[in-house]
Amino acid sequence: MSHSKGEMLYEGKAKRLYRTDDPDLLIMEYKDDLTAFDATKRGTSLGKGAINNAVSALLMGRLNDMHVETSFLNLIDANHSLVRNVKIVPIEVIIRFEAHGSLCRRYGIEPGLVCDPPLYEICYKNDDLHDPFITDQIAVLMGLATYDELAKIKYMALTIGHTLREIYLGQGIKLLDFKLEFGRYQPAGESEARIILADEITPDTCRLVDAQTGEKLDKDLFRFDMGDLGEGYRKLLDKLQASAG
Ligand code: TMP
Repeated sequence: MSHSKGEMLYEGKAKRLYRTDDPDLLIMEYKDDLTAFDATKRGTSLGKGAINNAVSALLMGRLNDMHVETSFLNLIDANHSLVRNVKIVPIEVIIRFEAHGSLCRRYGIEPGLVCDPPLYEICYKNDDLHDPFITDQIAVLMGLATYDELAKIKYMALTIGHTLREIYLGQGIKLLDFKLEFGRYQPAGESEARIILADEITPDTCRLVDAQTGEKLDKDLFRFDMGDLGEGYRKLLDKLQASAG
């Protein structure tokens, strides 16, 4: 069944969302734009949107196959996917297998320290406040989510983390950390919303390195001017597609 692109509902830093003729479904468009540090740094990389669309489709497709429910339904074309229409829970969930980035800045931890078991963090999704670190209690106090929802989110995030880590390791890539967002999905005719994985899983939202060479394959290439972003992202997609056969 094909769905045509209707009115634009939302434009974010790296994606746009459009209505379809079905209120339960939206079209997600991946842009070539890049931002970092709360959009104080901006750029564009030709072809980045198509790579991210393909990477997210492949990874969310694998999760759907494992009955971890995601908002991804199917690829439409290079830059577009059909997704479930969810209400985003305004929490950014971060899983870390090694200490890097803000964890090291915040606590003076040496980069590369192994997190075993993986570290689970939640932040309040609010650019004006710089996505501050919060706890379950603060999230409930603010009405962002219920304890039941937070328990489901934590369980799903750790399961997803384990799965992604294995998929990447199989291709000689180390997943160091990543960010997820969850949504409430309540299709027509159902009395209750359920928590599903939403947003994207792309090199914009993960730290990834080549396990052999240590070469970076993620948005840090742009954040810290560390090399050719298009080349790193393309290498990552090629490896993932090889794993998909
Ligand atoms: P951090 O070390 O800067 O907190 O980032 C942890 C992970 O989350 C890293 O893989 C990048 C990702 N991330 C996002 O996807 N969006 C963001 O806004 C930030 C700050 C990090």
